[in-house]
Amino acid sequence: MPAKSGRREKHRKLLKVKLKIKKKAKESSGVTRLVRKYWVQRYNLFSRFDEGIELDEEGWYSVTPESIAVRHAKRVEDGLVVDCFTGCGGNAIQFAAMGNHVIAIDIDPFKVALAYNNAVVYGVEDYIEFIVGDFFQLAPSLKGDVVFLSPPWGGPSYIQSQKFTLDMLKPKDGWSLFQAAQSITPNIIMFLPRNVDINQVAELSWLSSPPLDVEIEENYVGENAKAITAYFGDATN
Ligand SMILES: C[S@@+](CC[C@H](N)C(=O)[O-])C[C@H]1O[C@@H](n2cnc3c(N)ncnc32)[C@H](O)[C@@H]1O
Repeated sequence: MPAKSGRREKHRKLLKVKLKIKKKAKESSGVTRLVRKYWVQRYNLFSRFDEGIELDEEGWYSVTPESIAVRHAKRVEDGLVVDCFTGCGGNAIQFAAMGNHVIAIDIDPFKVALAYNNAVVYGVEDYIEFIVGDFFQLAPSLKGDVVFLSPPWGGPSYIQSQKFTLDMLKPKDGWSLFQAAQSITPNIIMFLPRNVDINQVAELSWLSSPPLDVEIEENYVGENAKAITAYFGDATN
């Protein structure tokens, strides 16, 4: 190969490597920025964070803060809880720690692996059955005393909407979600954004005949409003 074209080839290869590194750095700085925002809250998310808790990027912004997960868990005693959107396990762990058995479902196998790891940190893995699957497909074959719904809110940008309506939930709207849950039990706990349309949430109780009891609470961590929880049927106080 002539010296000139050899140099050109070398330069082209170097440029390719540089571009790859740049792309990687850009990706990882994105993750770091997002994680940095939530890192200061890590002990609010898991008080035993330092003992080996692991989260992926979505987990950082979507896990239920521990004090709120404990509130949810206190509504069920010695029961079988179906946690339909388990994520990294924030809720499943607290339901299990309260003495319940938990069926923990997530469509993402990596999330299930993280939830298992985190359940081991809390010593509750034996009380949880981990399932990789689509809740909507599994619902007709499930049994439980309480269904816990913590569906994706569509990423951190949910808060930019003045009012969060039930059609904005993922992967299906809130009505379809509630109906799938009702095929298991009318005792439902639903964890929703703090800007959710409360009237729409209360009206879900009318999907049952007679209408279900419903109770809605605002959830805070310290002074900060974080979310809304709706309790239906026997999950109400
Ligand atoms: C808001 S996160 C749950 C957070 C969880 N409560 C916690 O504290 O860690 C929602 C989860 O729903 C899962 N998901 C999305 N679509 C699903 C489906 N059709 N069936 C089961 N899980 C699904 C996502 O992978 C994500 O992990």
